[in-house]
Amino acid sequence: MFISEIKIENFRNIDFIGIFPDKKINVIYGENGQGKTNLLESIWLFTGCKSFRTSKDTELVNFNSENSKVSIEFETDLRTNSASVFIDKKRHASLNGVMLSSPRELIGKYYSVVFSPVHLSLIKDGPVNRRKFLDTAISQIDETYAKKLTYYNHLINQKNALLKNASEDSSLLDTFDIWDEKIAEAGANVIKSRIDYVKMLEEISKDIYSGISGEREELKITYASNIRYDSESIESIKDKFYKNLQKSRSNDLYLKNTTCGPHRDDIEIFIKGISARKYGSQGQQRSASLALKLGEAEIIKIIKGEHPVILLDDVMSELDLTRQNYILNKIDNKQVFITCCEKETVSRLCAGKVYKIENGNVVE
Ligand SMILES: Nc1ncnc2c1ncn2[C@@H]1O[C@H](COP(=O)(O)OP(=O)(O)O)[C@@H](O)[C@H]1O
Ligand SMILES: [Mg+2]
Repeated sequence: MFISEIKIENFRNIDFIGIFPDKKINVIYGENGQGKTNLLESIWLFTGCKSFRTSKDTELVNFNSENSKVSIEFETDLRTNSASVFIDKKRHASLNGVMLSSPRELIGKYYSVVFSPVHLSLIKDGPVNRRKFLDTAISQIDETYAKKLTYYNHLINQKNALLKNASEDSSLLDTFDIWDEKIAEAGANVIKSRIDYVKMLEEISKDIYSGISGEREELKITYASNIRYDSESIESIKDKFYKNLQKSRSNDLYLKNTTCGPHRDDIEIFIKGISARKYGSQGQQRSASLALKLGEAEIIKIIKGEHPVILLDDVMSELDLTRQNYILNKIDNKQVFITCCEKETVSRLCAGKVYKIENGNVVE
């Protein structure tokens, strides 16, 4: 799919921008703090997922305004679509003239993949960012996953509140078995979706990594759960998770926190059989991060039949020439928005439209 028109009003430092992007490559350049990432962030909103920078919708509205509106026209294989996202205290969205009950309903209609410096350190960072990567990626291809995850997180928050209050009110202890039963079931569903996604991701990213490394190194990715299930069936995961919750109860009461479950899981990445996080060189870690993100884009194309719109925020100058070329090759026949400080960084590599951003305006 590709975006043929974007209109942005009162979004962050952008009062108004209206552009007709190129079907392939769009380079957005300008000095720091001018609004380049803001522009990408406004396009990302149409995924129906939370912003990749903040979880507070109100931060997205221009300081001098009460609300903000972003509209796009995008072409899929089947038709031309128009979508709008409105933000006041929260986000609302419409698609082809119909108000949606939640922006999440855009999931499955529009697809994007964002790649930013945060993703370049996906491998070496802590597990939080890897879980976030996984959760966002799965949400885009499985509309029910975001709901499953929200429900699971809700249960964990409730249980943690009970763990905190149980020292004063011991009658709460009687309710724990019921909570654990619900948590084990919801958590098993989350784990199962993640296991399945990681398998698909490994298949695809393996080839990509092999391409980046000149066929010399092999990438392996596994879902690393703290629940040691015997088989990958939901029943078996649920069963083991429930037993783990029972076993860790006294410890959890002491720590006032639920210490096992998918909210503590991770993905492990191996290069030539050894942990990339612990032993990989910077180049290997970056290549592996790149392979995961490009793999995410490929999976959308395979499952949904549409190429996602690719957003590359400030990553080109951080990559060496081989990797820059590899990215631009791999995302051939997808629409791309690339931000950078000097237009030479990217425009020497490809043809397309170039926009200069200054103080929230397109000036060239
Ligand atoms: N809600 C907002 N209203 C007005 N300006 C904002 C808002 N949020 C962020 N900004 C401004 O946006 C600018 C950062 O834009 P950004 O797109 O991150 O810059 P860059 O061009 O470096 O990517 C900062 O100057 C910041 O003050
Ligand atoms: Mg930026």
